[in-house]
Amino acid sequence: MARLLLLVCVLFFVGYGVNAAVVEHTFNVGNLTVQRLCESRIITAVNGKFPGPTIHAHEGDTVIVHVINNSPYNMTIHWHGIFQLLSGWADGPDMITQCPVVPGNRYTHKFNITGQEGTLWWHSHISILRATVYGALIIRPRSGTHGYPFPKPYKEVPIMIGEWWNANVVDVENEAIQSGGAPNISDAFTINGQPGDLCRCSSKHTYKLEVVQGKTYMLRIINAALNNQHFYKVAGHTFTIVAVDASYTMPYTTDVIAIAPGQTVDALMVANAPPANYYMAAIPYISAANIIFDNTTTTGIVRYKSSPSKAPPIMPSMPAFNDTPTANQFYSSLLGLIKPGMQTVPLDVDEHMFVTIGLGLAPCGPNQPKCQGQALAASMNNVSFQFPTKMSLLEAHYKNIPGIYTSDFPNNPPITFDYTNASAIAANPALQSTAKGTRLKRVKYNATVEMVLQNTAILGIENHPMHLHGYNFFVLAQGLGNYNASSDVKKYNLVHPQLRNTVAVPAGGWAVIRFRADNPGVWIMHCHLDVHLTWGLVTVFEVENGPTPSTTLPPPPPDYPTC
Ligand code: C2O
Repeated sequence: MARLLLLVCVLFFVGYGVNAAVVEHTFNVGNLTVQRLCESRIITAVNGKFPGPTIHAHEGDTVIVHVINNSPYNMTIHWHGIFQLLSGWADGPDMITQCPVVPGNRYTHKFNITGQEGTLWWHSHISILRATVYGALIIRPRSGTHGYPFPKPYKEVPIMIGEWWNANVVDVENEAIQSGGAPNISDAFTINGQPGDLCRCSSKHTYKLEVVQGKTYMLRIINAALNNQHFYKVAGHTFTIVAVDASYTMPYTTDVIAIAPGQTVDALMVANAPPANYYMAAIPYISAANIIFDNTTTTGIVRYKSSPSKAPPIMPSMPAFNDTPTANQFYSSLLGLIKPGMQTVPLDVDEHMFVTIGLGLAPCGPNQPKCQGQALAASMNNVSFQFPTKMSLLEAHYKNIPGIYTSDFPNNPPITFDYTNASAIAANPALQSTAKGTRLKRVKYNATVEMVLQNTAILGIENHPMHLHGYNFFVLAQGLGNYNASSDVKKYNLVHPQLRNTVAVPAGGWAVIRFRADNPGVWIMHCHLDVHLTWGLVTVFEVENGPTPSTTLPPPPPDYPTC
């Protein structure tokens, strides 16, 4: 009898691991009152939690999330890094794949998770609301945790870095839009929603991780901050990086992690330090010069279970805020782990794009009553993206409705200049002017797209984390200064480049990405610094249908939000 029971259990677990399941959630978006930094605030949150609920799924599963908007704001939710194969209607960016879910309304997102494993996340994709509307989305291998290409960790813990304002974030954003300037800086950063006890009134608002001596922990680190990249360390411990952006990497050992908004890093950490209390800490990585920024440190505490120590935690020595060499070292050292059956780098390129990215200036708009002269803007190939207002791009694309957008996003910048030479640029102020437009890049189904992302020094240099929806891309090379086709092509890693959904393009430098456009639909690509998204550091790919029903975008679901 016992043996029969055992057999049944084994069959159950094997079956459970192999068969695709349906993972269903209801997300109630509404007001939540929380205490932070000595003050009581009303924030927008999902299911009364901050950060919101974690979604756990296995590769192959179907995810269904019923989003019910009980908040006072228009809402959309995006599943960051999910391919959305033939389910672009569920992707979530406001006015790109859907109109907002207005207060009192609801929308059910349904998608399959195919061919990706690791740490992703979900967040609001309208205005600045992702400051508090976000959570982790964890995909385990179909066969369960023994499908990892590394020894199964003892425990897995999400580490979500966030950014906190004492003011209502919608007010912060509106003020910036009206003035045409930069938004007020944040008041703190957070780890799993907690600022940590170096901040005022925060000893109770400190994330704590209890560890058992000798065990391995997988930290699933997510940068959900809005406008800042981060350095992350744990005193007394080193990490082995095994994945980024839900793509496995070759093991990479480091004691410091650089992570940009939109990126994730899976880091194995062995609890092998002398039993004591240790701080984990994150500080902003500031790649731009001469700006004011939130220079606070967020912390959590790693406590050894066996430790009788009541001593204060040991603080890691952090890099300088502007330690660009350390950031570049981390970002450029990672190598992808190509497993059998995985897509390798496509070698024939159909679409060669060279795209400048950076800041600029635009005439004040009608919604900017407090703007004087020019407003801050940002652009790709000098197009500062303008979001449509009448209809989502995906709906216009699907129904062939003219007048919403044009399919003429340029493959090259309008003029060639010395992109990263600050003094030459300063001598030619005309370079600062951008032109607004809703211009899309149309590509054929299955085309291979290569894009050189070239940072400019217009209004200063900065590292821009560029995120693409609907795909992962290979990061073939990155470097400083101006990209030089004849010499830099030789640096391409075509064998095991990192595969990511967000690349931190080096400050004053460039990165080359390549992907196959095998997912028909309309996919936004943008800087994941929230303020730059607002300023127009955005473009959109319009990917045509393939020749068969299984390569054609199906119709929208019945409850699809229109405007
Ligand atoms: Cu994480 Cu378009 O976003």
